[in-house]
Amino acid sequence: MKLADDIYFYPDDPSRDAGGLNACAVVIDGEQSLMIDPGCASRMPALLRRITDDGLDPANIGLVLFTHSHPDHLGAGRALCEHCGAIPAMHGREIAFYFGAGSVYRSCGRPWAQEEFTALEEGEFRFGGRCFHIYLTPGHTPGSLTLHWPDAKLLAVGDVYFAGTFGATDLTGGSEPDMFRTLEKLEQLPDVELVLCGHGPEIAGREAVEENYRALAREVAMKKAGVWPG
Ligand SMILES: [Fe+2]
Repeated sequence: MKLADDIYFYPDDPSRDAGGLNACAVVIDGEQSLMIDPGCASRMPALLRRITDDGLDPANIGLVLFTHSHPDHLGAGRALCEHCGAIPAMHGREIAFYFGAGSVYRSCGRPWAQEEFTALEEGEFRFGGRCFHIYLTPGHTPGSLTLHWPDAKLLAVGDVYFAGTFGATDLTGGSEPDMFRTLEKLEQLPDVELVLCGHGPEIAGREAVEENYRALAREVAMKKAGVWPG
């Protein structure tokens, strides 16, 4: 569904998509389109249908960016990249994780070769006529990235945080101290009015974004005080 000019959002809705656990997918349309986190492998046909129904041309997707390497985000990536002729990209640290300790999650379809991925680094990132900024945001995984599109006041955070809570830190490669630092880092970004998370609904509006950071800060404080269950 179209959320804003050139921003399309496909929630992790199992009632609409075939397959198991999915991530929310995002398409940023442009001279060439950028997709973020296509989801699990079995979702691809439904996702292509939904993109096409929205008037987008899958053949215009030139880059598929994975916020991190978990299969509910990356599983459809290979088939999608082959279908669209798109380049797969992750943060360089996540690529190393995926082919190292994170290989426990490499369960979907034909395996990738490490050199097939384009390695991203923190900093300015231009694609499709747009100027983005990549942030390295570890905590959920070592190389999780967040995409900031300042012109649209958009932040795509993957599983760093959701509406009301931050992402799991107890999976392989997770780190609670890294997550706390990442949340402080992202909260400093000015002028964010739309946050698209890897799961759950979008966080829309400046006040909602700020209120969510306040909720996350309360969660962090409870964790640090040892009063958070689990
Ligand atoms: Fe994840």
